[in-house]
Amino acid sequence: MSQWTHPETAAIHGGKDHSDPQRALATPLYQTSTFAFENTAQGAARFAGEDEGPIYSRLGNPTVAELERRVAALEGMEAAVATASGMAAVSAALLGVLKSGDHLVASKAVYGCSFALMNHMLPRFGIEVSFVDMTKPEEVADAIRDNTKALFLETPVNPNLEVIDLEAIGALVKRHGLIGIADNTFLTPLLQKPVQYGFELVLHSATKYLNGHGDVIAGILCGSSERIAEIRGTAIKDIGGVLGPFEAWLILRGLKTLPVRMERHCQSALKVAQWLEAHPKVKAVYYPGLESHPGYRFLGGQMLGAGGVIAFELEAGLQASANFIDRLELFTLAVSLGDAESLISHPASMTHSPYSAEERAMAGISDSLIRVSIGLEHVEDLVADLAASLDKL
Ligand SMILES: Cc1ncc(COP(=O)(O)O)c(C=O)c1O
Repeated sequence: MSQWTHPETAAIHGGKDHSDPQRALATPLYQTSTFAFENTAQGAARFAGEDEGPIYSRLGNPTVAELERRVAALEGMEAAVATASGMAAVSAALLGVLKSGDHLVASKAVYGCSFALMNHMLPRFGIEVSFVDMTKPEEVADAIRDNTKALFLETPVNPNLEVIDLEAIGALVKRHGLIGIADNTFLTPLLQKPVQYGFELVLHSATKYLNGHGDVIAGILCGSSERIAEIRGTAIKDIGGVLGPFEAWLILRGLKTLPVRMERHCQSALKVAQWLEAHPKVKAVYYPGLESHPGYRFLGGQMLGAGGVIAFELEAGLQASANFIDRLELFTLAVSLGDAESLISHPASMTHSPYSAEERAMAGISDSLIRVSIGLEHVEDLVADLAASLDKL
């Protein structure tokens, strides 16, 4: 846990290990699969947990460990385990705490592969899942049963940007002794800390803002030291979705600029969202930084900023919306978010295609929804690109 009150400082110094004998400013990259033991006694002691040194990079690596300490410090949590992808963090959280016969309550609108995992894979292992509208705490309360073990959500929701009341849902989690799992990818620990509302496990697709440069696939899962040790020793060690040291090293580099990047992402996203909202060819804009958005009331409370992702729908039909996307020059047509480059995608046919059309309709994911991740380019250039394509509609 960091002793600094300002996130800009914590993002650079929080959780940093100063024990490197060369006193390197940047974290040394331990690009190695294994670590030599001095003798058999030391090897045995490491496996027995009596000697803390490294063994083998699937079980732990000093560069990866630095990333784990740094992100845990930012989330205000005790420990973290870095994973090979955001999905490896989602699956490690769920497989690490659930067993056959348990019941999970999940938000009905989540990232498409998280939905696929919970809807298709978990039932194969005898885990029941109820998908509910988490913007309605009474629906969540009704879904909780005697065998409910955990609750899973993300907020703002990918892709429709609905905001879930963390305090209300966190109160239910605490009252029923559930393990609350929050995917904090969209806002990062700088703008939202689910642990403050009783969520025991907080995870990220570190592919997105934490890294921020579009060159890594990674995830991270934060929790108490005890819970993370348990997950590391099972769902990570034996299933094996660990993060490589080079990826960790790149994310460590990205983390240092996270506060300045987030500030710019939020500022530009608000300007773009306001501009879209005022445009006659735009039917609806979903961005919690807009006063018209139901999630706006959480700004300054659970959310210190509204983030860089906006969803919107055009007045025109699906084909015209596709043409609008295809004509853009500055926005890259690609899934992912949180990069320096602005990205645009069509969730129904891309990130949320693991949902069937009926499941998408039930989850409130409209087929006409367009999702943009506002990057770090000058906002006037972004608006000009959108304007030029909308003009041609
Ligand atoms: C909210 C959210 N969670 C999890 C994931 C999965 O992350 P990854 O692609 O790093 O596995 C994504 C990916 O888009 C996401 O948007």
